[in-house]
Amino acid sequence: MKFPVTLGAALVAAMLATACGKKEEAAPVAATPAPAAAPAAAPQQTVEVLHYWTSGGEAKSAAELKAMLEAKGHLWKDFAVAGGGGENAMTVLKSRAVSGNPPTAAQVKGPAIQEWANEGMLTSIDSVARAEKWDELLPKVVADVMKSKGSYVAAPVNVHRVNWMWANPEVLKKAGVEGMPKTWDEFFVAADKIKKSGNVALAHGGQNWQDFTVFESVVLGVGGPQFYTDAFVKLDPAALTSPTMTKAFTTFRKLKGYTDAASTGRDWNMTTATVIQGKAGFQFMGDWAKGEFTAAGQKPGEGFLCAAAPGTANAYTFNVDSFIMFKLKDEAAQKAQGDLASAILSTEFQEVFNQNKGSIPVRLGHDMSKFDDCAQLSAKDFVATAQSGGLVPSIAHGMAVEPAKQGAIQDVVTQFWNDDKLSVADAQKRIAQAAAAK
Ligand code: BGC
Repeated sequence: MKFPVTLGAALVAAMLATACGKKEEAAPVAATPAPAAAPAAAPQQTVEVLHYWTSGGEAKSAAELKAMLEAKGHLWKDFAVAGGGGENAMTVLKSRAVSGNPPTAAQVKGPAIQEWANEGMLTSIDSVARAEKWDELLPKVVADVMKSKGSYVAAPVNVHRVNWMWANPEVLKKAGVEGMPKTWDEFFVAADKIKKSGNVALAHGGQNWQDFTVFESVVLGVGGPQFYTDAFVKLDPAALTSPTMTKAFTTFRKLKGYTDAASTGRDWNMTTATVIQGKAGFQFMGDWAKGEFTAAGQKPGEGFLCAAAPGTANAYTFNVDSFIMFKLKDEAAQKAQGDLASAILSTEFQEVFNQNKGSIPVRLGHDMSKFDDCAQLSAKDFVATAQSGGLVPSIAHGMAVEPAKQGAIQDVVTQFWNDDKLSVADAQKRIAQAAAAK
């Protein structure tokens, strides 16, 4: 088999980054050791699925996927790689693929789907997509991402919104904060009150992808969706070096003063736990965080509050989880891939999976009546922002630009967060350079 050049290079780069001490949240854990090579007489219909859903709420969602596949008579082989945001999972996946032994399916999203397809490694799932009318079922913005050269090569599972702010109402009450802040100025007033009351104002896990998750919400709130698009989709150097970006970096730096000392390196779900436990007031995180609140038995409006991050009520950073299917020779495996693709988009699966995951169904017109208030707001805002132009792809979650550029920009954001001596002007220069690099 052909060894993909760019994937090979990416793997080496990823390994070098690790060897150079780039901080990772957890060592990759492959729950099921991979066989050295595809065995000739592999057990029929074994479906090995790579994913990174290992937190409490995520594991519940992954269990639904497993149950659904087993109900179709397949054998689930779990290939879970711990690490929020999926960076570890992608490194492990590349090494498996480069050695000619990819799993049946893998949780890959955004422009990375095209990269895998361009390597000739993905199989078309058009027959399922056509039979089940995916073009009519899916929002166009989602369908386009799932296709390579007009063919479906990935199946979408959900729509996550990234620009959320979560809060503990008891912590807010104790501090005398009324209502969720709507602007960054209001946020800092609220945060000062919480700090004074003895709690942590902002729960933040200091890992590169979490830093970037917060930063993109700040950029969206400060600059609005058109500015966000110019900066993070078009990578327009004028936007990246503009006074608006200066304001975004300044606001982002100010947030650090409201985080706790244990923030450095903390996983996102442990960070959400500090909000759940009433130690911290706010967290900026995508709605997979809601999966943690609900797994802890909390309800929106009671145990926790959700609102769009300050200044972003009319915008929506979308993040669509999806599974790519690898080209495999085994016919039973191919059938299993079709079954997986079909089941993922079924109404039943969309309903139960997304209620656990914190996301909303990816099918258009799904009945949201059994979903909670945050999910209903997300569904409403998804449709409204698609019409208004406020719907933008999340750069921190791999939806906006190719992975190499995303990583390079993310590195600058993280350096800026961690190094108070790095000036805003230099950080702006560096993100413009990272965005322009070939
Ligand atoms: C994924 C989510 C996942 C989160 C934390 C995001 O990039 O889209 O499915 O729950 O990272 O790992």
